[in-house]
Amino acid sequence: MSKIEETLKLHTSYFSQKYKAYPWTDPNFYALYLHQVYEYAKLSTKLLAYAATRTPEKRRNFFDEIMHHIKEESGHEILAQNDLMNLKVDHKSLKTVHATKSMYEAQFGKILLYGDHIMMGYQIALEYLAITVGSELYDLLHNVYDDNSLSFLKVHVKEDVDHVEKGLESLKAFNDEELEDIADNIKQSLYAYLLIIDECHQLYLANKEEVKNTLLY
Ligand SMILES: [Fe+2]
Ligand SMILES: [Fe+2]
Repeated sequence: MSKIEETLKLHTSYFSQKYKAYPWTDPNFYALYLHQVYEYAKLSTKLLAYAATRTPEKRRNFFDEIMHHIKEESGHEILAQNDLMNLKVDHKSLKTVHATKSMYEAQFGKILLYGDHIMMGYQIALEYLAITVGSELYDLLHNVYDDNSLSFLKVHVKEDVDHVEKGLESLKAFNDEELEDIADNIKQSLYAYLLIIDECHQLYLANKEEVKNTLLY
């Protein structure tokens, strides 16, 4: 097993212990989470395109893989938007938590600072998370919600499974130093994702108790 795969396995198992503590079966919490998904998924093709602009000519294959991936990810935010509509929630009424913006904005900054390769840490972290923790979550939630409110999860758990393998294959283009950066970004991205879920929980509790926390939002 490669060092990247070890990192993915180790840090996703930590994630797996943590995420279960949140109230996924409450539509108010699930909708708030889905809104965050909508917000970061909306930026994912732009992030891939930004990484592509920084790809050196010697990595032409990697550039082509990014272009192909942009097509595959295009419109995925609509899945989350439809899930929200089917939950009968207007996602414009939901707040984007600070952790969501911090996660995706950091990724643009990292590409600027370190280069195109760094994006693979974020991409692989989220796609591996989907086929492991996302799969467990889908199994839990499909007894609670209709499948038409679970389409984002379902597509990433059941249909886009090959994205992880394709992503791991792409890593052959990178040297040891770049792979270190990618491993570090995997950890950072998974931790950032947990912070999103945790901040959603704080906001969910605040709304539930009708405590309008104007300091945070
Ligand atoms: Fe996607
Ligand atoms: Fe993908």
